[in-house]
Amino acid sequence: MSENDLIQNVQQTQKEFELALDVAKDAEAIEALRIQYLGRKGCVADLFKSLSTIPSENRKAAGQALNQLKTNLQTALDKKFDNVKNINTSVNEFDVTMPGNWPDFGRLHPLTKVTREIKQIFSNMGFGVADGPEVESEYYNFEALNIPQGHPARDMQDTLFIDEGFVLRTHTSPVQIRTMESKQPPLRIISPGRCYRRDTPDASHSPMFHQVEGLCVDQGITFADLKGVIQNFAQQLFGSDVKIRFRPSFFPFVEPGAEYDFTCLICRGQGCRVCKGTGWVEISGAGMVNPKVFEHVGYDPEKYTGFAFGMGIERIAMLLYGINDIRLFFENDIRFLQQF
Ligand code: DAH
Repeated sequence: MSENDLIQNVQQTQKEFELALDVAKDAEAIEALRIQYLGRKGCVADLFKSLSTIPSENRKAAGQALNQLKTNLQTALDKKFDNVKNINTSVNEFDVTMPGNWPDFGRLHPLTKVTREIKQIFSNMGFGVADGPEVESEYYNFEALNIPQGHPARDMQDTLFIDEGFVLRTHTSPVQIRTMESKQPPLRIISPGRCYRRDTPDASHSPMFHQVEGLCVDQGITFADLKGVIQNFAQQLFGSDVKIRFRPSFFPFVEPGAEYDFTCLICRGQGCRVCKGTGWVEISGAGMVNPKVFEHVGYDPEKYTGFAFGMGIERIAMLLYGINDIRLFFENDIRFLQQF
């Protein structure tokens, strides 16, 4: 090899090295390049071998070029290595306390969450879940529940009529009848679902809303059982310091009938705007199943007794989460829904 050839080789090697160094992005890649070029069997070592084949009086320029190449490569490798190390360890340019970009997750609607919780609590007390249609016959929605023709609950103001004899159910109580028609006592069920009434929406009314119905029938069931179940439910959902109270009231399908209240969860009974200063919030109605209802489904009222209760799911959710307007549940504003 002539001296000029060697000098050309040196220049070529320098160029190739620069290209390779450019794409080396981490410490390992740089180390691999160091071995490839400056290692004992590397390119530069090969060039030095070639140099020794050139007669010594002709080697001066090539020798200088080769030494220069070796220094260039060493400096470039060291510099790049320092760069990479600094990028990896530098904390100044990267704020680890900055919140990341979260993808939008789907989530359960607050009413779904509350319904699941209610189901779980009653399931622990041995209640199964029953279902019924939302388009219901007047017979199941009214008649079988001892709400005769002409009763104010059938008023055109309240009920959404579908066809002759059919309505959008105004409560979940018809599921009581359907369950008793298809099963014999003892039975213990709850039935959550949608209900409809001809109401103009405002902060506490919605033409579509949700109830849970409860029904327990067996020999020897008393009002004390009803109170025990409601109390247990209230304390499991809202905490052990919650108290319940029953006030005499009238519903055609129970006798005696009552409305029941929980101590206000917002003020814990002290009196506030939500409970209008009374310390109590009304939940719904309950009572002992009216023997007339048993007659409709063919149960022997001399043999069996039972209790039934209703519950507004929106009302429970509003108390649980401190929500003051029922319309929020149905507007599907993502800013509201994201909070649950
Ligand atoms: N169905 C009633 C309503 O919609 C609530 C209710 C009251 C249910 C008393 C019951 C009950 O089971 O015993 O307002």
